[in-house]
Amino acid sequence: MNFYVLTLFPDMIEQGLNTSIIGRALDKGLLTLNMVDIRDFAENKHNRVDDYPYGGGAGMVMAPGPVYRAHQYIMEQIKLRKGLTHNRFEYPDKMEADKTVSAETLEENKSEKNQSTEVDKQNSKPIKKQTRVIYLTPQGSVFNQGMAEEFAEEEDLIFLCGHYEGIDERVLEMVVTDYVSIGDYVLTGGELPAMVMIDAIARLVPGVLNNDVSAEFETFQDNLLEYPQYTRPEVFMEKSVPEVLLSGHHAKVEEWRKQQSILRTAKNRPDLLKKAELSQKEKKFLNDYLKK
Ligand code: ADE
Repeated sequence: MNFYVLTLFPDMIEQGLNTSIIGRALDKGLLTLNMVDIRDFAENKHNRVDDYPYGGGAGMVMAPGPVYRAHQYIMEQIKLRKGLTHNRFEYPDKMEADKTVSAETLEENKSEKNQSTEVDKQNSKPIKKQTRVIYLTPQGSVFNQGMAEEFAEEEDLIFLCGHYEGIDERVLEMVVTDYVSIGDYVLTGGELPAMVMIDAIARLVPGVLNNDVSAEFETFQDNLLEYPQYTRPEVFMEKSVPEVLLSGHHAKVEEWRKQQSILRTAKNRPDLLKKAELSQKEKKFLNDYLKK
């Protein structure tokens, strides 16, 4: 899977993601992480990418031009598919030729947002594929595990990180397909949210986790939180591991774990529990517990 990030702070993302499990998956070539520095697509002497907001108000707004050209550049790279691994793009002299965007190009972009044509190998017919562009914003839909699973099906994903007071609305309308927030709080930029999303999506790509089973049975599976885990020593500062886990009785362990998941979800995330499907026996267990 190929991640592309449009950002003013490529180092932040590269350093944040190039370690541990994601770092190993990058080394193995299961993932590629491609940074595009929006500033490299500025047109002015000082490489400025922001400007004052029309209508007045505090803060600065990211100008549409550099974002548009940087996105176009990625779309070209995706089309060319140059066997990218973990890199930053080299720019053809800041894309001088693209400074003026023709009316036709704009029209084309509006009607076929981010589409590229590939040929279906089985029947030689052209297939239109849309490359999703995720704009990180507190105004977007709140990211969750289901969305991570959906995005993990894509071959290429582009993340657009904003700064200052946001990005000029016109370029967002032209390139963005998904507006995503990572929660109801405001951060200084989209880089941390992009890293959060890339981590959550990348670990679902086959082969990224050592053990594929661990992505299957975990928190949010069936709308339940994960049960508590224990490892050695058996007694830690006078606290013992629950006895059932030492019993070697597989069915009993499974039953205990499910009950713990239910209790934890009831306590911490009652909103999730409403969506969980419980057996009659599990419902009775929960009701008996709540009555206590
Ligand atoms: N940018 C600033 N705050 C954000 C948030 N909560 N989610 C996504 N992008 C953001």
